[in-house]
Amino acid sequence: RILILDFGSQYTQLIARRIREIGVYCEIHPCDMDPEDLRVFSPMGVILSGGPETVTAETSPRAPQQVFELGVPVLGICYGMQAMAFQMGGRVENAEHHEYGYAQVRAHGHTRLLKDIEDHTSPEGYGLLDVWMSHGDRVIEMPPGFKLMASTAGAPMAGMADDERGFYGLQFHPEVTHTRQGGRILSRFVLDICGCEALWTPGNIIEDHIETIRAQVGDDEVLLGLSGGVDSSVVAALLHRAIGDQLTCVFVDNGLLRHHEGDQVMATFGEHMGVRVIRVDAEDRFLKALKGVDDPEKKRKIIGNMFIEVFDEEAGRLTNANWLAQGTIYPDVIESAGSKTGKAHLIKSHHNVGGLPDKMKLKLVEPLRDLFKDEVRKLGTELGLPFDMVYRHPFPGPGLGVRILGEVKKEYADTLRLADHIFIDELRKHDLYDKVSQAFAVFLPVRSVGVTGDGRRYDYVVALRAVETIDFMTARWAHLPYEFLDHVSRRIINEIPRISRVTYDISGKPPATIEWE
Ligand code: XMP
Repeated sequence: RILILDFGSQYTQLIARRIREIGVYCEIHPCDMDPEDLRVFSPMGVILSGGPETVTAETSPRAPQQVFELGVPVLGICYGMQAMAFQMGGRVENAEHHEYGYAQVRAHGHTRLLKDIEDHTSPEGYGLLDVWMSHGDRVIEMPPGFKLMASTAGAPMAGMADDERGFYGLQFHPEVTHTRQGGRILSRFVLDICGCEALWTPGNIIEDHIETIRAQVGDDEVLLGLSGGVDSSVVAALLHRAIGDQLTCVFVDNGLLRHHEGDQVMATFGEHMGVRVIRVDAEDRFLKALKGVDDPEKKRKIIGNMFIEVFDEEAGRLTNANWLAQGTIYPDVIESAGSKTGKAHLIKSHHNVGGLPDKMKLKLVEPLRDLFKDEVRKLGTELGLPFDMVYRHPFPGPGLGVRILGEVKKEYADTLRLADHIFIDELRKHDLYDKVSQAFAVFLPVRSVGVTGDGRRYDYVVALRAVETIDFMTARWAHLPYEFLDHVSRRIINEIPRISRVTYDISGKPPATIEWE
């Protein structure tokens, strides 16, 4: 396995995902990882990530010196290369000329890392690579033992190599897709130079995790809150494969789910896969608790607390369960471990059953803790979950509760469910569903005038929202075709009695958020 030491680059997770895609297991740890932990981890190779700081400052981070004494290959990327150069006796300076974006790099000589990897050949016979650069500093003197591997106009030392020890530095970013040969370079490093085998495949991951889960829980019973979302669904399928009937899932229908969602969850897990799922119909309790409440944050709290209350009651009946399974995934772990506990983590805590373990004295089993979202999805497919379930858009924990503006009423929820269903159904039919990151309808409890036949009517408004985003932190509204929007709008107004008007949300995030509340 490969160790990635994180110097704070926005691309660090991307490095890890690329390495895993190659089929090699890797973990991200902070750049000041304890030397003893480093030894215990015993990596077959180390990658030093990029980072925002400058090694020329005395207080900026360094790699633990032990990294260079482990006897395994090391690849420094951007800041990682500079730290490596500096720590091994080279020199780094603040370049006047900063390079950001596309650059063409000239490869020198025959290093093991770049041999036969190129996008073009120069007239003089050098290999040329199209790469992505983002740096202010540059190496101006290589440490002893290194030879020049690559250069650009802005960075004469854009790559350095010590083939004997397997130490390499790259000023550019092989992990981003703009570096066209990036995948081959990383693959050369981990497979050929570090000697890792590509064993991290969905099939093997499942086998591995099944063994670990069995060893962890033994003959005990495990409880899981199944929401129908990707993570908890994959946990359910994985645990079912590992421990069969020792798993009990509780699915709380809060009345704020999408069209037929509850039935689908029961069909997939209960009937189809034979998982024991207890469905709790709690619509009345949720609606009663929400009556008269129009503040979004209050609604969120009420829904979250009610979920815990209902789940708790059910769990109380399963006297034997002493484990609680959760769908925590690797980005949650990295984010909560780092100093910058991000927004994503806060969002997660909304719908994870936070607080339960303490109260119920349950131990936690989190089998997806070391997996990225795309790996979770591949695992889900491999475990036989339907494609549509594994690749569906995210859905907030409070569900339609935050998509009905103001007070939540059953009539509103029923109306919204239908409108949302028409929108999603049409997106799928027009092959647009997978082209947007998230799409849904929002219910606006204002009455607007319309005419039907000879009569005037005052009915509600539905807003459609579709966004494109990579990380859900920023998003752009999806430019769906007019004809498509026209078709969806007609269907909604014709088929749903209480809707007289449909609008399309054309706000970006920021300043708007993706959800309306
Ligand atoms: P916003 O609205 O903040 O949403 O732009 C970003 C992403 O987070 C989801 N979201 C939530 N998920 N509980 C959740 O589990 C929540 O309370 C919540 N609020 C927003 C939203 O659907 C989008 O994918």
